[in-house]
Order: sequence, then C-alpha cells, then structure tokens
Amino acid sequence: MILEMKNIVKTYGRVVANDNVSIDLNEGEILAIVGENGAGKSTIMKILYGLEKPDSGEIYVKGQKVSFNSPSDAMKMGIGMVQQHFMLFPPMTVTENIVYNNEQQKYGFLDKKKNIEKVRELSEKYGLDVDPEAVIRDCSVGTQQRVEILKTLYQNADTIIFDEPSAVLTPGEVDDLLKTMKNLAKAGKSLIIITHKLNEVMEVADRVVVMRAGVVVGRVNKVDTSPEELSYMMIGRQLMNLDIKPVKTGRTLLSVSGLTMGSESGKKVLNDVNLHVDEGEIVGIAGVSGNGQSELIRCITGLEREYEGKVMVDGVDVSNKTVDVIRKAGLSYIPEDRYLWGSATEASLSDNLLMGEEDSREFSRKGILNQKKIDQHADQLIKEYRVKVDTYSQKMKELSGGNAQKIVCAREVERDVPLTIACEPTRGIDIGAMEFVHEKLVNKKENRGGVLLVSSELSEILKLSDRIYVMFEGHLNHEFRHGEIDDRKLGIMMLGGEVHE
Ligand SMILES: Nc1ncnc2c1ncn2[C@@H]1O[C@H](COP(=O)(O)OP(=O)(O)O)[C@@H](O)[C@H]1O
Ligand SMILES: [Mg+2]
Repeated sequence: MILEMKNIVKTYGRVVANDNVSIDLNEGEILAIVGENGAGKSTIMKILYGLEKPDSGEIYVKGQKVSFNSPSDAMKMGIGMVQQHFMLFPPMTVTENIVYNNEQQKYGFLDKKKNIEKVRELSEKYGLDVDPEAVIRDCSVGTQQRVEILKTLYQNADTIIFDEPSAVLTPGEVDDLLKTMKNLAKAGKSLIIITHKLNEVMEVADRVVVMRAGVVVGRVNKVDTSPEELSYMMIGRQLMNLDIKPVKTGRTLLSVSGLTMGSESGKKVLNDVNLHVDEGEIVGIAGVSGNGQSELIRCITGLEREYEGKVMVDGVDVSNKTVDVIRKAGLSYIPEDRYLWGSATEASLSDNLLMGEEDSREFSRKGILNQKKIDQHADQLIKEYRVKVDTYSQKMKELSGGNAQKIVCAREVERDVPLTIACEPTRGIDIGAMEFVHEKLVNKKENRGGVLLVSSELSEILKLSDRIYVMFEGHLNHEFRHGEIDDRKLGIMMLGGEVHE
C-alpha cells in the first residue's frame, strides 16, 4: 500500500465536506473517486496534496505518518496533483514551466539545453506529446494538461492525483489522457482520478470509491460493478430511464440559410450553413469543438452580427439583429460559458434567475418589480433543480461551476419561449442534474417547442436528438435522423472523414 488516509474529517463552517473519510491506494493502481458535485471529492484530495488541513484523521505515505502544511511537503513525499485549474505561466515555455523551481543548474547557471533534454526524455518515456520549446500561451488545453502531468513527473511524483481532468478536454483529448493514465500505471505510478463520468471510470479504474454528501458510500472493484450500480450509489436512487419518443412536428422555429462568416485571416469560419429546427424537435449539432459551432451560435443569438445569410426565429427575420430583439422573437439560450455570458456574477441568484424576464407581467407591474414573487420563483427553481445553496440571496459568484450551470439552465429552459439553444448544457454537472436537464429539454419538445443542441458529448447528441447535423470546418456536412447513425461513424465524420458501408 503506497498511501492510506484514515478517518479524515474536514468542515467548512457548518458544511461537513469530509466526514470520516478513509481512502487507500496500492502501488501501480488507478483509483477512481466518483460522486456528485459537492460530495467532498476535491476536499479529500486537497488534504492529501497539502492544500487543506484536516480537522482530524491520519495520513500515511509508504508506511510513514505525515502531516502536510503545503503542496511542497506533499511533493517531497512523492505526491503530485493535476488540478482542475492549471497552474501554469502563460508567457513561459513548456520546459520553463515544468522545471520551474527545480531547474538543472550548471555552475550556478540554468542549463537550458539540459532542461529541454530532460523534458523531452520524460515526454517520450510516458508518451506525453509536447514541444518543450513551445510557449504555454500558444498550447491547446490538452497540451497544457500534459505539461501539468510532466511537472509532477519531473518532481518525481509516484502518486498523481487528477481532479476532473476530462472536464476541459475535447473527446479526442480525453482518449489521449486515458491512454496516458494507463501508461503511467503500467510504469508503476499510482493514480487517483476524480470524475463523475462513469465511462471513464469503466475504462481506466482498477477500484472505485463512491462519495455522497461527504461520506464514502461504496468501495468496489471495477470488474465487479457497472455504470448503473455506480450511478445508483452516487445519487442514492435509480436513474429514471428517460423515455424519448418522436412527437409530431409543426411550424419551423429556427431557420438558418446561407450563413457565411469570414475571419480576420480571410478564412471562412462559417461556410454556407443551412439548418432548421421545427416544433417538436431536438436537433443536435455534433462536431469537434472549434469547427464553427460557437460562431454559428453567436450569429443565431445576436452576439455576432457581421455575417451574410438569413436567420429566422419563429417566422421573424432576425438576421444581424441584436441579442435583445432575438430573445424577444422567441428564443432562450444556455451558453457554453455560463460565467461570461450566462450570468451576472455579482448579482443574487434571484436576480440571475429573473434576467431577461424583468418586463414580464408575472414579476412586474407598471415597471415595479414584485420582489416577493421573484424570490419565490427563485426558491422554487433552486429546489426543483437541486442547486446546492443556502438561499436565493447568495451571489452567483459564490456557486461552484456545476451549480452555476444549473441556475442558468433553470432560467433558460423555464422561459416561456418556443425555441431553446442549448450549448453544452450538461458540461460539468453531475448525472442526477444531467438527467434532469435532459428531461427538461425533452419536455420542451413535447410541449410544442424546439431545441437546438450543441454538444461535444456524443452520447448526449445521440440520445436526445431527433435529427443530427455533423459540423466540420464551418459547414454542416451531413444530416441524420435519430437511430440512423452510431457513435463510431459520427466520430469519423466529425473529423471530416467519410463512412462507406
Ligand atoms: N473553501 C471552501 N469554503 C467553504 N465551503 C467549501 C470550500 N471548499 C469546499 N466547500 C464545500 O464543501 C463541500 C464539498 O466540496 P468539494 O470537495 O469541492 O466537492 P466535490 O469536489 O465533490 O464537488 C461542498 O458543499 C462545498 O461547497
Ligand atoms: Mg470537485
């Protein structure tokens, strides 16, 4: 056993983040810690990495009792962590970031060549593809994560903790990461991965610890369990099997024709995009991110107005119109980046849940807001979406990512308009909430609405969509009906390939 955490307790005010949590790890194994948002996963790992001090409990590393005051204490004992938010210096190179504070020196001077060599060596040994001389600022998120991993290896970590490492990655990058994790374990490293994606658990983990509300509620060997059992333990109930049926379609709620937009470099970011969403439909756009999806949505929602082509919302021509005009034409929007576009971080949850509805008769009379009604409305949505907060008067910025997402989803899905544009609506939220959001989107189509769904989560697209468009290099290359295509073929087309039967 390489490490053992015994009966760890950690409280934040009234919140018991970890309640007698015990976790152990064997050499060369991959342990998954799963659980919904707020279950206490990050807390227990921050304690192991010396970022937080436990109220009580004991930690043993290689049989030796330890007490960490900082990450550098943990690193001295061979523990490294790849955190959710990368800790890199953007203007510095890959190598400079990796060797920072641990440089190879020669007669007291930094030996640049030697450092680069060392990084190249590590990168080859563990199959972590990076250019040692690239500047971090120019690196993809996937590369930056590899740099974080290399940093821990450079510091001779034999235990590496990953906190939701796939949350920021594209599907291809996730595959690479999972391969890397297996390589590391094969090379004798011991790994802990925090995730709520059960397919990742089934792919890489040897053992699984399930947490709920600060407590360990299950320990299983991967081979003895299933995604169904794990999700049952995670949320404490059976997932409903969402019954998705086609419904009768009606009038066209969104139509986009000939949408074309150039970039500064003269390249076409959007190239003659044509699509429609009808009443009674969920229409999915599948694509590797960066193929024009964000730009397309920015045009449809009015965040981008410099384009050619026509956009109609519920029969109204809204081409090149402002966000305000388009929303009034009958569209709600769950944006990809909740903090940037979706919310006012300094405002209360009540106000955030009201955003865009200030003029509605339900909440205001003659320009005077009915605060009581607004708070009641917020209270109800918070309960319904199981947002983990104390009150509706809390500020948006105090919420964790997953909970902020729930607030924005609640507001936009509940708006009384025919069309909802949903971009990555379940990214970063746990399976209980994901199921809930899916159910709401399905409700929308069943109640004579329509949904345009953009998601890099193929399973989500395949499950929910009545029709699917495949987007590649700014163009919609293919269109399928539900059930006509599987994830493998879709994956190939997303990369611009063709499938021949
Ligand atoms: N620094 C903090 N201050 C106050 N509460 C915190 C802090 N960090 C975590 N918590 C609370 O502790 C609980 C567990 O959080 P966390 O370990 O981050 O959960 P997970 O990683 O499983 O989503 C949550 O209720 C969270 O709000
Ligand atoms: Mg966490």
